[in-house]
Amino acid sequence: MSNNPQLNKNGDLEHLLTTEGLPAPILLNILDTAKSFVGVTERDVKKVPLLRGKSIFNLFFEPSTRTRTTFEIAAKRLSADVVNLNISASSQSKGETLLDTVNNLSAMHADMFVVRHSQSGAAHLIARHARPDIHVINAGDGRHAHPTQGLLDVFTIRHYKRDFRNLRVAIVGDILHSRVARSQIHALTTLGVPEVRVIAPKTLLPSKVERLGVHVYHEMRQGLKDVDVLMMLRLQNERMLNARLPSTEEYFKYYGLTQEKLSLARPDAIVLHPGPMNRGVEIDSAVADGRQSVILPQVTFGIAVRMAVMSILAGN
Ligand code: CP
Repeated sequence: MSNNPQLNKNGDLEHLLTTEGLPAPILLNILDTAKSFVGVTERDVKKVPLLRGKSIFNLFFEPSTRTRTTFEIAAKRLSADVVNLNISASSQSKGETLLDTVNNLSAMHADMFVVRHSQSGAAHLIARHARPDIHVINAGDGRHAHPTQGLLDVFTIRHYKRDFRNLRVAIVGDILHSRVARSQIHALTTLGVPEVRVIAPKTLLPSKVERLGVHVYHEMRQGLKDVDVLMMLRLQNERMLNARLPSTEEYFKYYGLTQEKLSLARPDAIVLHPGPMNRGVEIDSAVADGRQSVILPQVTFGIAVRMAVMSILAGN
């Protein structure tokens, strides 16, 4: 019996709401299953029948390019029927509550909800109130969690670096407002990465962040020394309540990743970014488009990782 609301009584994944508290075998099963789907995504006929007859509802209450599209592609490659709710044209705009919207969609025989919402906890709320046979996947809630992004990031790291056990990983930028950083940190530490660093000004770090098991740096030049993996983050201006930086130019000077700063990392270091990128703010174009960047492969791997999550949930 588990206290984790994502796991059923057998300890299997019922919903994917956060990487926090997920046991390593569950994370590794998702990564291994995703690896088997990479081949499918590279075939001429990119479809398998695993979710035939199932209905996946994409409920994106916040903008998205990568996550929404790759969830849709992933569901279609699993042969599911996909419904993309147009939120601006939905009855939410007439005052319907989130749970009433969800109840009505459940009545349309949904099998899975993929939910993005600006409020932390929205996906948990839906998972608690949805019919018991409906699986819920958190596609990003407020500043809390973005588990499939964290998983596709660790999948990408494993693809290029093979083993988690000798890595130094640096997460750079607006950790305070980043659901991606939280999901990455929980996944990386559970999978046994020995050194996860966060590099940011004090104003962009949560209080007591070291309790997450990370090493804190405020100086980019110190924090990047000898790292194997750099995860760059966008300034989440939409979630900042007040000014936390003098200017974006100043931010770029101290925390923007340039080729010169990247040279402090190991020569074979890889650079990740969850997107959307702000060139000239947190990353220079020469790095974003350079030989150490794996930013576009991240997006492609996201399809296989989301196929893995949906197929595992459907089988549990
Ligand atoms: N990484 C990410 O969540 O991107 P989108 O906002 O485009 O989905």
